[in-house]
Parts: sequence; C-alpha cells; structure tokens
Amino acid sequence: MKNYAAINRDWWNKATPIHASSKLYDLEKFKKGKTSLQATEIQEVGNVRGKTLLHLLCHFGMDTLSWARRGADATGVDISDRSIRLARKLSREIGIPAKFICSDIHDLPKVLDKKFDIIFASYGVLLWLSNIKKFAKIVNHFLSEKGMFYIVELHPFTNILSCDLKIDYKYFQKGPHIDDSNGTYTDWSADIKGFTYNWNYTLEDIINSLINEGLKIEYIHEFPYTMYDQFPGLMEKNKKGQYVLKDKKIQIPLLFSLKATK
Ligand SMILES: C[S@@+](CC[C@H](N)C(=O)[O-])C[C@H]1O[C@@H](n2cnc3c(N)ncnc32)[C@H](O)[C@@H]1O
Repeated sequence: MKNYAAINRDWWNKATPIHASSKLYDLEKFKKGKTSLQATEIQEVGNVRGKTLLHLLCHFGMDTLSWARRGADATGVDISDRSIRLARKLSREIGIPAKFICSDIHDLPKVLDKKFDIIFASYGVLLWLSNIKKFAKIVNHFLSEKGMFYIVELHPFTNILSCDLKIDYKYFQKGPHIDDSNGTYTDWSADIKGFTYNWNYTLEDIINSLINEGLKIEYIHEFPYTMYDQFPGLMEKNKKGQYVLKDKKIQIPLLFSLKATK
C-alpha cells in the first residue's frame, strides 16, 4: 500500500514557502489586518464570535486566524509540518491566538478530543482525501450537538475540465490520480519538484457520505465564480474580486457550498 499521505505532505512542505510569498495569499496585507476569507463564507458561516471552530486542512492558517480575528476560538489542522510551523509563527506575529495541529485528517481522532460548534473547510480540500466516508465520520465525530459543518469547495464538475477548459477527465473516476504537473496554483511556473496523489468525488459522494453519518444537509449552493485563476488566460476578475470566465456564453458551476447539521 502506497504511503499517499507522506508523498502529499512532502509536496505541500515544498509548496508552503512558495504560497507564503505569493500574490494570491498576500501575507503582507493579511498581517496588516486584511481577512483572507471570501465574502461567500463570511456571509454563509455568519457570526463566529465565542464559538469553537475547527478548520480542516488549514494550510498555513490564514483562514483559521481570520476566523479567530472575527472572534472564534479556532483550531487548524494540516498534514504539512512546514505549514503548521508557519501558522504558529503567524499567530504569534499578529498576536491572534489559535491552536494548530499537525496531523493527517484521517488520524485526527487519535490526537484531538473535543467537540466544535463549527467545522469549516474550504477551497481545495476534498481532492486530498483518500476516503470521503471516513472524512464524513470524522466531521460527525468532532461536531457538537448544535454544531454546523460548512464547506465551500471547487465544484466537482470542474474535475472533468483541463486548465484550458477542454473535457479531460472522467467525472466518475475516483482515483487515486497522480498529478505531476508543473508549478502550483499560485504560480504555474514555480520550480516545485515531485508529484501528488489526488482523488475525485462526485456531488453524490459528498452529500451521501454526510447523510450516511446521519447529518442533515441544510443547503447546497452553486456559484459561477471561483477564488483563483483556475483556467489561466480564460478568466477575469469581476468587481468583487472573484474569478469568472471571460466568455459569458459559457455558464458552468465553479464552486459549491454546503451546510450540514446534526
Ligand atoms: C489547497 S490547501 C487548503 C486550502 C486552504 N483553504 C488554503 O488555501 O489555505 C490544501 C491543504 O491540505 C493539506 N492536506 C493535504 N492532505 C492532507 C491530509 N491527508 N490531512 C491533512 N491535511 C492535508 C495540505 O498540506 C494543504 O495545506
């Protein structure tokens, strides 16, 4: 059995410093107080003041700390030790307390014993899960009785598209897939060696895995915009800073959000 987690961690450790110095993450503005959260999740998650919040696959913690700035008692989890070290450093530097745990998400119940009011995950999370059913079990395990799970994520429909917007992949082909493409989403020309293992999940997989855990789906929303240049050369930023397709004749879902409760 391949050690998917170790291979992916290695890649994310290499990507962390590249992302941290990128325009997309814009750490300098963040340090001066700018939130890294998008309007979509700010609006849909609502008031977090005084609530415990678990941020899954938090990278180097900008969103975790942005929720903490809004008053949440926030905990971030990520498999990359380099990301977690940077998250802790950022927390000290900006003077916003948050807890950061370095763990494979699939092993989290072994290292964390707490229930949360809000479980949050965003933008580029599901493709790193080797087992969506186990993920849903973990969400249910950490969710408090009146808590909510909220995810805003790249729409699975876009899994079938190549970066030049051609039909490239099979929607129902689960993986693991090897991704050995060049660069990273903050800089497609970045010199980053190695490859990753990814998995695709359909909307059905995502929704049913939560339903099978007994969770209630409150809503699923689909959006025609995203937060990064997913199809380079074919996208532009709208007035709200969201990336949309230049060709207005093409109407496809780029993001979805979902809220589930116990
Ligand atoms: C695209 S980023 C998360 C998106 C986040 N919203 C952001 O942009 O900061 C994906 C993160 O998932 C983490 N990751 C990948 N596989 C993981 C796993 N099995 N358990 C925990 N974290 C994992 C990576 O280290 C990386 O930091």
